[in-house]
Amino acid sequence: MSRIKVMTVFGTRPEAIKMAPVVLELAKYPEMITPVVAVTAQHREMLDQVLSLFQIEPHHDLDIMCKGQTLFDITCRSIQGLNQVMAQEKPDIVLVHGDTTTTFAGALTAFYHQIAVGHVEAGLRTHNKYSPFPEEMNRKLTGSLTDLHFAPTGTARENLLAEAVGPESIFVTGNTVIDALKATVDPAYRFADNILQQVDYATLKIILVTTHRRENLGEPMRRVYQALRDIAAEFSDKVEIVFPVHKNPLVRKVVQEELGGVSQVKLIDPLDYQPFANLMARSHLILTDSGGIQEEAPALGKPVLVLRDTTERPEAIEAGTVKLIGTDREKVYAATKLLLTNQAEYERMSNACNPYGDGLAAARIVKCVLWKYGLTRERPGQFCGGK
Ligand code: UD1
Ligand code: UDP
Repeated sequence: MSRIKVMTVFGTRPEAIKMAPVVLELAKYPEMITPVVAVTAQHREMLDQVLSLFQIEPHHDLDIMCKGQTLFDITCRSIQGLNQVMAQEKPDIVLVHGDTTTTFAGALTAFYHQIAVGHVEAGLRTHNKYSPFPEEMNRKLTGSLTDLHFAPTGTARENLLAEAVGPESIFVTGNTVIDALKATVDPAYRFADNILQQVDYATLKIILVTTHRRENLGEPMRRVYQALRDIAAEFSDKVEIVFPVHKNPLVRKVVQEELGGVSQVKLIDPLDYQPFANLMARSHLILTDSGGIQEEAPALGKPVLVLRDTTERPEAIEAGTVKLIGTDREKVYAATKLLLTNQAEYERMSNACNPYGDGLAAARIVKCVLWKYGLTRERPGQFCGGK
């Protein structure tokens, strides 16, 4: 039987979390697939946390991250490094994920080598070029270079069809983040971290916060942190705010200025995925500008207030578990206060729902690759949720 070489390319924390199930699935078919893992390491520590949790040892590590890197740095360094890796490995297909600059650079480099591209988490759109920046364009540009589109939901499929992508190249798979989440959340999990062990989960309402979006750097983030300070002061005996702060020095500076030393606010380093996912499961509500967390929290029945003006993930908003509130200080304060004081509103938003996946996305993606290359006759099934 002939074999194919499948190269996965990723570089940041969320790509690693969402590609890990695919990497592990590819390894299950050694007689048909030669897997190659190439990481740009656009993130260093935050990528390594995920690689070690899922025990993935990349065949190629470009180690491109530098402090305060610009989009130009990431793009140029990724393309130069991936050019050499792809020239050497000559894969049949390159799988990229999502919307980062690594994603776009991976797809572009594969295209220059005339290697097929598979896009995992394809078809998400805000239709706003600058929000999120640069992710919306990274997705669109990657989509233009893609041969196999793995759309997580029916909505994502429709976005691609509206851009005249051929239906035969789109497969609705569910989102691999739900595969990763299901493998990670465990009610019996015990935090190793002292700070997390000492949090009073039984009597306090835990508000989990993350922020990192480029378009929120500076004043928008400052306004959010000021709103959190207001909440911490008003509900000092009822809430604990836990904030794993992104490694970006521009984020950390403003966080320290506004929230350093505020009691009821625990500022900690980014958590490994296992404690983070289990912390989500024990939180009361989540404030975030993250993309992935908007997909995970609904599966855990946790209300999410999204600190952004747009989202490419409308499914959970439609289901009522996610609300888009932006970064205005008053609005963030009011939306958070509402969920802390109005039980009916809280219950309305905390219904668990799973529009993004069923935990089988990676298996569908790999089956689809095998089918496309004629290595199996079994036509891959598709994920029916999300629309
Ligand atoms: C990147 C992605 C974004 C994704 C996010 C996930 C782009 C343009 N942005 O944004 O789409 O949502 O990752 O978190 O692709 N840093 C460290 N150690 C790390 C990681 C980051 O020190 O492990 C610091 C570095 O100083 C780095 C800075 O954070 O220069 C920013 O990292 P970068 O990848 O450029 O942007 P993110 O905001 O993380
Ligand atoms: N996450 C994590 N540790 C943290 C914060 C987030 O493991 O301290 C996980 C989270 O569960 C989700 C992913 O990182 O799977 C989201 O990454 P991020 O918010 O950085 O990027 P985005 O999803 O916005 O691209």
